[in-house]
Amino acid sequence: MRLSTTTTVLFLVLATTHTTQSADIDIKKFGGAPNADITQAFLSAWKEACAATSASRILIPSGTYKMGEVDAKGPCKAPIEVKVDGTIQAPADPKQLNGAEQWVKFGYVSHFTLSGNGIFDGQGATAWKQNDCNKNTKCVRNSMNFGFNFLNHSIVRDITSKDSKNFHVNVLSCNNITFDGYKAIAPADSANTDGIHIGRSTNVKVINTKLATGDDCVSLGDGNTHLVVQNVECGPGHGISVGSLGYYENEAPVVDFLVKNVTLKNTDNGVRIKSWPSTAIATTVTDMRFEDITMVNVLNPIIIDQEYCPWNQCSKKAPSKVKISKVSFKNIKGTSATKEGVILICSKSVPCEGVELSEINLTYNGAPAIAVCSNVSPKIIGKAPACTAPTNKVI
Ligand SMILES: *[C@@H]1O[C@H](CO)[C@@H](O)[C@H](O)[C@H]1NC(C)=O
Ligand SMILES: *[C@@H]1O[C@H](CO)[C@@H](O)[C@H](O)[C@H]1NC(C)=O
Ligand SMILES: *[C@@H]1O[C@H](CO)[C@@H](O)[C@H](O)[C@H]1NC(C)=O
Ligand SMILES: *[C@@H]1O[C@H](CO)[C@@H](O)[C@H](O)[C@H]1NC(C)=O
Repeated sequence: MRLSTTTTVLFLVLATTHTTQSADIDIKKFGGAPNADITQAFLSAWKEACAATSASRILIPSGTYKMGEVDAKGPCKAPIEVKVDGTIQAPADPKQLNGAEQWVKFGYVSHFTLSGNGIFDGQGATAWKQNDCNKNTKCVRNSMNFGFNFLNHSIVRDITSKDSKNFHVNVLSCNNITFDGYKAIAPADSANTDGIHIGRSTNVKVINTKLATGDDCVSLGDGNTHLVVQNVECGPGHGISVGSLGYYENEAPVVDFLVKNVTLKNTDNGVRIKSWPSTAIATTVTDMRFEDITMVNVLNPIIIDQEYCPWNQCSKKAPSKVKISKVSFKNIKGTSATKEGVILICSKSVPCEGVELSEINLTYNGAPAIAVCSNVSPKIIGKAPACTAPTNKVI
């Protein structure tokens, strides 16, 4: 049969349209089935997807699965999506993850998406019981649920991270990654279960997210630039933290962080910048904006703590060398669980500069909460508590 020119053109158009759609790779294709261990099936699916020359999508349908350590790496030839609708369980015994820093790693990919209504369950209860990192600096570090490393232009959408043995998510050296609708859940008394820790990354957004953990909801390490946390609910947990900084050598600056429209409920801290006392290690933190924030029964709603030294692991005599500048706290309201609603303890050797308090309405037992400050003279705009000197130990 001889095809007419029109038919041939139509055929080519359809063929082209088809190749731009994602090809689905169900893990069933590699023997992945509910109630089984899908480690190998997942890695085989990843290998196929990563080699594909057009966009592909790995599907893990609903059902409960077991999975061991996974290190899914690029570079890949085309965008990849991993869509998880099932519940994937990590081994409960931390030893079975062989000391892996993270249970599930995705790295060195551009245009990666992790999506779906699925749950990654770290089954951390056993690991938390064994954790002695609060007294033993050489303690064994448990595996985090996720590592997102060296990803560009990537998205994590909807997925839930549950009961991680350590941090839920560690973001390292990513450029343009958005967490939208991501959730992290762990009991309030679980150790080190930060919802999302971000290091050495740029253009990171955490939006429309609910984080309820035993540690920081969001924490930033050094070397981060251009980050947004917006429309987020946090609590229980330790709040949103920049730092701790000034502990390790060669820390890069943290620049441009916006926290907006966030509710913190029953957390230890609200919005916090913290650095260790140390005369040796210097870096900078600048352009921090915290605005439109509601605090509900938060212990330290607004806090800069440059004498951060938990469990007396350092000497407070050496003032921090981390320079903090251009920090604004604006339209922050609600209830403080202590009378010091605002604590700004800056470094004696490098005082904070350009700090603004604007429209701060925090109450403690129905009365306005006070502000306690040292080595900083914040600019007060509109209604906000004036600084008083710390009279005794406030943190
Ligand atoms: C991500 O972007 C960086 C900086 O542009 C580049 O060096 C790196 O190769 C990219 N990684 C991938 C996996 O494309
Ligand atoms: C960021 O990544 C998203 C998702 O891949 C992409 O749609 C967007 O164009 C990227 N933005 C920039 C500025 O590269
Ligand atoms: C603020 O965030 C909440 C989610 O925590 C969202 O429901 C609400 O629409 C956001 N408000 C604005 C003005 O974006
Ligand atoms: C501060 O908050 C309290 C309690 O929510 C409220 O009654 C009061 O009117 C607020 N003050 C201002 C100046 O907004």
